[in-house]
Amino acid sequence: MLRLENIFKSFIQRGLVLDGLSLKIEQGNSISITGPSGSGKTTLLNIIGSLDRPDSGEVFFRDRSILSMTPDESALYRNRNIGFIFQDHLLLPHLTVRENILLPLSAWRITEEQFDAAEKHALILLGKTGITALSGKYPFQISGGEAQRVTLVRALVNKPDILLADEPTGSLDSRNASLLGTLLTELNIDLGITLIVATHSNDLAGKMSNHYKLENGKLRN
Ligand SMILES: Nc1ncnc2c1ncn2[C@@H]1O[C@H](COP(=O)(O)OP(=O)(O)O)[C@@H](O)[C@H]1O
Ligand SMILES: [Mg+2]
Repeated sequence: MLRLENIFKSFIQRGLVLDGLSLKIEQGNSISITGPSGSGKTTLLNIIGSLDRPDSGEVFFRDRSILSMTPDESALYRNRNIGFIFQDHLLLPHLTVRENILLPLSAWRITEEQFDAAEKHALILLGKTGITALSGKYPFQISGGEAQRVTLVRALVNKPDILLADEPTGSLDSRNASLLGTLLTELNIDLGITLIVATHSNDLAGKMSNHYKLENGKLRN
């Protein structure tokens, strides 16, 4: 489903970060990417999510080059196919949980039926993640662990094929980290979402089925 070939990326201040990296991911896989701070994990996820471009190399999603897309096509690729979660929850403070979750839908021109279907899907996800009761609350009224679960639901409301999670448990205590890790694996299995998780946590990495280490700009098993 996703294929990265010979990816090079450098930053002027830092030099080479990704050094001819290649990676192949099949639909429904769950993979962990570990590696020291500054090894390029976020850079790699940003390239997969087309938030950033490599200096050279190719990225194929379902055999289509995402690097040769126009900006509109690229935005569509991101909205339709990719969900993101990051270390910090990034919920909008003036919107309720429900409004935050439904926000990605406003990036689309959708019919009322499509909206209703998406809302139904959001309710199922809220139930799965155990936060149905929070829908009317504002971000300041919920805990960090709960907020991260809201972010997870928001990332999935458009039914992406791939979820990119960048240190998703980095700000959570161990109980909430473990809960989020379990939820991620359940969603991978139940919904068939392809999971790519960059993490420092061996516990979270251990829950994925394929493991890679990013070192010296390359991935190794
Ligand atoms: N936009 C940028 N401009 C300059 N340097 C960057 C930028 N993004 C990342 N870097 C540098 O690239 C290296 C890899 O960063 P990053 O991908 O964030 O690593 P990780 O997520 O593994 O900690 C770091 O040295 C970082 O400072
Ligand atoms: Mg990072």
